[in-house]
Amino acid sequence: MLIKKELKNLENKIKDLKKKRNAIILAHNYQLPEVQDVADYRGDSLELSRIAAQTDAKVIVFCGVHFMAETASILSPQKKVLMPDLNSGCPMANMLTALDLKKLKDKHPKAAVVGYVNTSAEVKAQLDVCCTSTNAVAVISALKDKEEIIFVPDKYLADFAEKNTGRKLIKWNGFCPTHVKIIPEDIKREKKFHPFAKAIVHPECLPAVVAMADVALSTSKMCQFAKETEAKEIIVGTEVGLIYRLKQDNPTKEFYPASEAAVCPNMKRVTQEKIIWSLEELKEEVRVPDKIRLRAQKAIDMMLKII
Ligand code: 13P
Ligand code: SF4
Repeated sequence: MLIKKELKNLENKIKDLKKKRNAIILAHNYQLPEVQDVADYRGDSLELSRIAAQTDAKVIVFCGVHFMAETASILSPQKKVLMPDLNSGCPMANMLTALDLKKLKDKHPKAAVVGYVNTSAEVKAQLDVCCTSTNAVAVISALKDKEEIIFVPDKYLADFAEKNTGRKLIKWNGFCPTHVKIIPEDIKREKKFHPFAKAIVHPECLPAVVAMADVALSTSKMCQFAKETEAKEIIVGTEVGLIYRLKQDNPTKEFYPASEAAVCPNMKRVTQEKIIWSLEELKEEVRVPDKIRLRAQKAIDMMLKII
């Protein structure tokens, strides 16, 4: 643990380097507190990509996982998108390769192909439309005249979309290894301890967990819900890193993690020292080759048109 004075020195160094490089720092809501503290913006996958596309900064230090930095680079190819730790991957995104998807499409040639943003750029290049946890239901609803719909890679987000649209989807066997650690017993126990609390969960959770929650939302929608609800206590069924922001934004409310086991190690790889290294060396750059980028962008643009 860094002591306070050291942290201040690092924070000042990051401020100077940001100015020198004309850079901004984007941090996903699951990042370590020390990273969230130096971020210009915090957000969910969709929000961060949109900010990346809109900023005037020349350099974007993306503190999140690889597919998020790729999405930012797809939307803003003229900017330099850096990851302070290139090993921050998303195991769910890695459960589906471009070849896997090609084979699935060959089996269902007439199906529309929807893919969660938690996919590689190569996979996105094969989608008709992308979606996030915020808009999966809206995207599936917009495809009402399609007879068949493939939904990859998250089988639990697909299940959530099925329940909320009444559509049957062709699914892939992908899932988030962090969110499946939250089990129905966790929600039951926390509800028993905190009978007046609302339970909010991420749609990547097991369907049985989603069914027990008051509402299933993306990470930033959870932040919005926490601000707007009259409830003073909230059980949070997602990666534990979100609690830091929830507490900062709502100091008079209590937040209880549904499970302390819900930690995404990939989201914890970035530190302030790595951000300094990234800004000094301008590394590691994430760039998507044009051939893939242009096709992947079409799927993202289609999503942005729908929502
Ligand atoms: P959000 O888009 O809701 O932030 O989710 C991203 C993610 O990877 C959740 O595990
Ligand atoms: Fe991927 Fe799950 Fe980590 Fe999100 S929490 S980045 S879906 S492994």
